[in-house]
Amino acid sequence: SKKIGVLTSGGDSSGMNAAVRSVARIALQRGCVPFAIHEGYEGLVEGGDMIRKLGWGDVRGFLTIGGTVIGTARSARFRTREGRLMAAYNMIKNGIDALVVCGGDGSLTGANLLRSEWKGLCDELVDTGKLTTLECEHLREHLTIVGLVGSIDNDMSCTDITIGAVTSLHRICEALDSLTSTAQSHQRAFVVEVMGRHCGWLALMAAISVGADWVFLPERPPPIDAARYGENWEEEMCERLSQNRKLGCRVSLVIICEGAIDQNLKAIKPDYVKSVLESRLGLDTRVTTLGHIQRGGAPCAYDRYLATVQGVEAVEAVLRSTPDIPAPMIGMNENKITATPLMDAVQKTQEVAKAIAEKDFKRAMDLRDPEFSS
Ligand code: F6P
Repeated sequence: SKKIGVLTSGGDSSGMNAAVRSVARIALQRGCVPFAIHEGYEGLVEGGDMIRKLGWGDVRGFLTIGGTVIGTARSARFRTREGRLMAAYNMIKNGIDALVVCGGDGSLTGANLLRSEWKGLCDELVDTGKLTTLECEHLREHLTIVGLVGSIDNDMSCTDITIGAVTSLHRICEALDSLTSTAQSHQRAFVVEVMGRHCGWLALMAAISVGADWVFLPERPPPIDAARYGENWEEEMCERLSQNRKLGCRVSLVIICEGAIDQNLKAIKPDYVKSVLESRLGLDTRVTTLGHIQRGGAPCAYDRYLATVQGVEAVEAVLRSTPDIPAPMIGMNENKITATPLMDAVQKTQEVAKAIAEKDFKRAMDLRDPEFSS
């Protein structure tokens, strides 16, 4: 029977616990032995008490809890070969031959690297006397890796949605609704920065959901009407906001993705936008950075569901894994659970960053979501 380690890595996201619960319980049902690896890859490198067998009751109540109970980290040690050697040692000592990693693209790339180095790491552990040939025997040939995408940013290609993104979107919308009520009372403008790194999904969805006046996205730097405004996005934004005021709006709401840029790839900062609104439109303006409040809290129903069904598929993917099948990433596409070669997804994700760096914004938007590119 398979011994399956499950870990959460990178920034936490709501629904990661549901994923751990699902993997653990389906593994048990399918006659496997699940292990929790605490504090992400740090736990794998550290070993000892950081790697613990999971029983049915250990994940009781996990569906409703935000963050990740088994902990997460952005492990610097795992990025070194020495760290990965330690990780391989600890896995083999525990007999773990499969790893389900729930994290973002960096975390999943790390998992794939471990898989590709696996045989070499095992050989080194035997050659240096740290492990006996017998200990390595049945684990040496092949390490099974399966990726689940846990990230509030929804920035991974080959899946429509990532675990935690919808919960964060809800939290952002709640905060924006609160800001709107106070803004309306004073007829103020609010400039709100939301997370998402270099992905505008959270910002765009929130802007649509609350009816914001303007949104800044990394994939689509302003002005939107370049033929008319040249590089002068300030004028374009102000015209739109003043039109909305003329239509009777008592509040102006501008949302900025933290990674937003202009046509020259220069960061667009909330304080600058505030100064533009004040000087050009005379609006009484406040800046709010939502910060980590948008990452915490109980998962919404969708994230519980998504993480649970993807956890089931992750265990099934472990069971059908063979050395010649590339490590899969479990996704959700058009309401169906999918398995895509993990490195294809990572490479496609990196293409977006490349397109932005090359100022090919049309391509960046197309790669993210063709429906939104117009
Ligand atoms: O990737 C998730 C995320 O919340 C991003 O949206 C944000 O840029 C980053 O992590 C913040 O990281 P940290 O929690 O390390 O400050």
